[in-house]
Amino acid sequence: MRGLLRLTAPLPRFLLRPTRATPLTRCASKSNASRPKMASGGDDGEGKRPQFGGRLLTDPRNVFEHNAWDNVVWDEEQEEAARLQVERNSRVSISEEKIEEYERRAAHYWDAFYTVHSNRFFKDRHWLFTEFPELGRDGDDNDDYPGCRATRRILEVGCGAGNTVFPILRADADPALFVYACDFSAAAVSLVRAHADYGAATCHAFVVDVAAGDDPTFPFPDASLDVVACVFVLSAIDPQRAPAAVARLARLLRPGGRLLVRDYGRYDMAQLRFPPGRRIADNFYARGDGTRCYFFSPDDMKALLGGAGLVEESCHVDRRLQVNRGRRLKMYRVWIQCKYRKL
Ligand SMILES: C[S@@+](CC[C@H](N)C(=O)[O-])C[C@H]1O[C@@H](n2cnc3c(N)ncnc32)[C@H](O)[C@@H]1O
Repeated sequence: MRGLLRLTAPLPRFLLRPTRATPLTRCASKSNASRPKMASGGDDGEGKRPQFGGRLLTDPRNVFEHNAWDNVVWDEEQEEAARLQVERNSRVSISEEKIEEYERRAAHYWDAFYTVHSNRFFKDRHWLFTEFPELGRDGDDNDDYPGCRATRRILEVGCGAGNTVFPILRADADPALFVYACDFSAAAVSLVRAHADYGAATCHAFVVDVAAGDDPTFPFPDASLDVVACVFVLSAIDPQRAPAAVARLARLLRPGGRLLVRDYGRYDMAQLRFPPGRRIADNFYARGDGTRCYFFSPDDMKALLGGAGLVEESCHVDRRLQVNRGRRLKMYRVWIQCKYRKL
C-alpha cells in the first residue's frame, strides 16, 4: 500500500519548503523527503491527535513542533502547483482492461492487502469520539434523560397500577430494555413507583395527560421509542381528543416503531350492560364511578391510528364467549387489537 502512494514525479520544490504548513509538510523531513510516509493510522493520517481545528500554525518557524496543523491555508501558487502535478500524473491512464480488472477484483486486492498487513496497518481511531461525539455514550444532545442508555424503549400509556408494565419487565430482563409508564392519575403512578419490581434502572413512571390540550411533555425526546402500548386506555379518552393524543404518541415513536393497542370493541358486553342515561356520545359512556369508556369499531381504529400517519400491520376484532359455569352465565366479550407502525 505504501508503495502505491509513492509519487512518480518529484514534488514541486515549494512543497518541500518548510515556509508554511501544508498537508504535505511532513514530506520535508529528511527521512520522508523521497517517500511521503503515512502518519500513524494508515493512509488517512488519522492517528491519535487532538480535535481537529484546534492547532493552528501562526508562526511558520514552528512548523516542526507538531506532527500536524489544522486549517492550513493554501495560497494560489500552491493550489496551481498541485493542479499541475495532478495534470502531470493524469496524462497516462491505466489501460481499460486493467481498470476493469481493478473493479472486478476490488475485494481480492483488499483481501491481499489484509493478508499482508493483517491488523497492523490502520490504527484504532482514537479521535472518533472527539470528532463524532454522536458515536459515544455521551454523544447524543438528548442523552440526559431516564432510559437514555437503553437501546429498546417501551412506553405504556395509561399504566394504571402497573398490570401491563410489570409483566413486561418480569418477562424481559434484557439490560438494554427500558420501560416508561405514564398515567394522568398521580395515585396510579404512585402505585407503580411503590411496586416491588419498580427500579430506576429499568423503569420510569411519570404523570402526564396524553390528551391534554397543551401539547404534553414527556421525559424523553420525540422519535425515541420502539413501542408505545395502549392497553385499555384509548377507550378512556374523549373520542374528540383522541386523534391529537394518538398523533402525539406517534411522534414519540422512532421510524419503524410500533403502536400496540388492545381495547374495548363495539358491542362488548360492557357496552350492552350500560343502562340508559350513561351515554355521553355515540358508543361513549360514563361508568357509575365517573370513569368513561368508548367502544371501538375497526373503522374507528383505522381512522384514529391511520390518521396519525401510522401504517396498519393488523387490526382485528377478538370476539370471545366467556362462561361462568357456576352462575350459568354467557358473556360475549368483544375486544379490538391493533398493531400500527411508524414509517
Ligand atoms: C383501564 S385502565 C388501564 C390500566 C393499564 N393499562 C392496564 O393494562 O391495566 C385505563 C388507564 O388510563 C388512564 N388514563 C385515562 N386517560 C388518560 C390520559 N388522558 N392520559 C393518561 N392516562 C390516562 C387512567 O388513569 C387509567 O389508569
